[in-house]
Amino acid sequence: MQIRVQKTTHSRLGSVDFSDLPFGKIKSDHMFVVDYSNGQWHDARIVPFEDLMLSPANSALHYGQAIFEGMKAQVDEQGTALIFRPDQNIKRLNLSADRMCMPNLPEDLFLKGLKQLIQLDIDWIPSGEGKSLYIRPFMFATDDSVGVKVSESYMFIIFTSPVSPYYSKPLKIKVADKYVRAFDGGVGSAKAAGNYGASMLPTKEAYAQGYHQVMWMDGHEFKYVEETGTTNVFFVIGDKILTPALDGNILDGVTRKSCIALLKEEGATVEEKRVDINEIIEAYKNGELKDAFCTGTAASVVHIELFNYKGQDIVLPPVAERKWSNFLHNKLDAIKGGKSSDTHDWIVEVVNENIGVSA
Ligand code: COI
Repeated sequence: MQIRVQKTTHSRLGSVDFSDLPFGKIKSDHMFVVDYSNGQWHDARIVPFEDLMLSPANSALHYGQAIFEGMKAQVDEQGTALIFRPDQNIKRLNLSADRMCMPNLPEDLFLKGLKQLIQLDIDWIPSGEGKSLYIRPFMFATDDSVGVKVSESYMFIIFTSPVSPYYSKPLKIKVADKYVRAFDGGVGSAKAAGNYGASMLPTKEAYAQGYHQVMWMDGHEFKYVEETGTTNVFFVIGDKILTPALDGNILDGVTRKSCIALLKEEGATVEEKRVDINEIIEAYKNGELKDAFCTGTAASVVHIELFNYKGQDIVLPPVAERKWSNFLHNKLDAIKGGKSSDTHDWIVEVVNENIGVSA
């Protein structure tokens, strides 16, 4: 498929203060858009970032057929744009699409459009500690019909945003004891927009109590840890690293799987299993809880300062003593920025993209 390109005539690049990049507020000049109707994707285009015109009856707004992804790009010392594991994101997007009864997007079209977009807006990729270009692909229904039914038309878009880290300090987290994010048979493993909408009230309540995030638990017993509102989660007990197994209710995080691979390669013992909160509390009481941290594309690797379980604060050791989360944070940063060799083939370099040529 040909990708049509319309470049902006009014770049906003000069008006951006790259020393102050609040997460997700600033959008780069262009976006990649593809439409779906009559059973096929068509009209792939890169156009100036602009508002969309939608029918008030747009079915995604009413019934939530909307899914998204998150990725990041950085530039290396030679000025080449590097995208971290985009193949994983298109695969997960299509799994989310399956669950939400939406069409799959061809992987090659996704990667071609993505690379051309990043090449065109390469000057928007910020450099400096923790900064990157956040990439937001998303797909949503566009039928304008009030009946509850699978939409016949969709739009897929990628836009980008220069960002600083999502979290600027270690997190204080409230363990959920009333609300549930996902339940067996639900959409917990899909990156569906509604999952995030449903988390707003619990997160707002946790925030009002002085926490930054909620740690979600299983919906049966509130006993097994799932994930936080924006990340996967890891615990270090003695010399073992635990993370909740992919049980259909949690997100198969790209940063999560990258961390597991890096840890194993480093000789660490990583267990993906049902993580019983009582095991964590017990380890804390015995002085065995060495570390707890969150992983995600937006968040990267972020330390947990404390979490509150049934009114008790579980306080983690000082950040300087956190061997594994510090290792992961530095290692991932180095790989993503091209400072450490990419032995896993995780990095896609954007080189010589022929902008406007077929996908
Ligand atoms: C990401 O880490 O990319 C996410 O999508 C999490 C959040 C910003 C919604």
